[in-house]
Amino acid sequence: MTKPFVYMTRQVAVEIVAALEEVAEVEVWPEDRPVPREVLLQKAEQADGLFVLLTDTIDEELLNRAKRLRIVANMAVGYDNIDVRAAKQKGVIVTNTPDVLTEATADLAFALLMATGRRLIEANRFLHSGGWQTWSPYLMAGQSVYGATLGIIGMGRIGEAVARRAKGFDMNVLYHNRRPRPIAEQTLGVRFCELDELLRTSDYVLLLTPLTPETRGLIGERELSLMKPTAVFLNVSRGGTVDEEALYRALKEKRIWAAGLDVFAQEPVPVDHPLLSLPNVVALPHIGSATYETRDRMARLAAENLIAVLSGKEPITPV
Ligand code: DGY
Repeated sequence: MTKPFVYMTRQVAVEIVAALEEVAEVEVWPEDRPVPREVLLQKAEQADGLFVLLTDTIDEELLNRAKRLRIVANMAVGYDNIDVRAAKQKGVIVTNTPDVLTEATADLAFALLMATGRRLIEANRFLHSGGWQTWSPYLMAGQSVYGATLGIIGMGRIGEAVARRAKGFDMNVLYHNRRPRPIAEQTLGVRFCELDELLRTSDYVLLLTPLTPETRGLIGERELSLMKPTAVFLNVSRGGTVDEEALYRALKEKRIWAAGLDVFAQEPVPVDHPLLSLPNVVALPHIGSATYETRDRMARLAAENLIAVLSGKEPITPV
């Protein structure tokens, strides 16, 4: 009996590919850049399973051509790159990688919060450029982290993991979510509030929502205008959740104090993007889950989902 065919759109650890090869013929796009659309479409036509990244668009066009396809395993917890409804209609299983990246992403979110609030990147550049002439009372002064109010928008697993870190800094943690999370409230001492109240009262506003039709452009001119002039805005979700032009204006006109951004509407963000010209923006190249251990765990979970489905079993982490 011939083995099913799996196409992988990026190289991952050899042992993970080897595990997949026990159940499938595997072909891997050999370059460390997104596979060209035409190649992906051609490979999808022959594939029983796809191992994809958030840089690959799995839409109706692809799904219509992929007649044999049984599973799309996304190596990410977010799956806004996949038309899940179309996949479901065609009987194609979609899986993602929850849990395994929670702590690494929460670490990064908290690091970004501290780096932005305490101006670490700007201070480092200042020193290297020879600007440090003397100690001075307000030299590179930032916003306090310890004891400040953190507002988390999108209280899922990562939000809870950030809240745990924030408690170590004696922060007052508010959250806004589609549904209140009573267990998190009891165990972490976080408090649910409406979005506008969270925006008005938080010193740090951290966006962690997935990108859906409801959250696209969630933070725009109106929401930014509610924030304190000393507020730090942080986005570790998807760039599409924020109106970047409105954010640029709010930062430029100092209506909010700073922003830390791990994600952008267009990725990679063009280096001449207006947001990157601002000293009060800390910008990162979407590295929320980027530790060696976590990325291996994500790749392994995506592969395990493929192995399960192609062996006739239930997926481990279906969307
Ligand atoms: C995800 O998993 O959705 C992140 O954005 C990448 O880790």
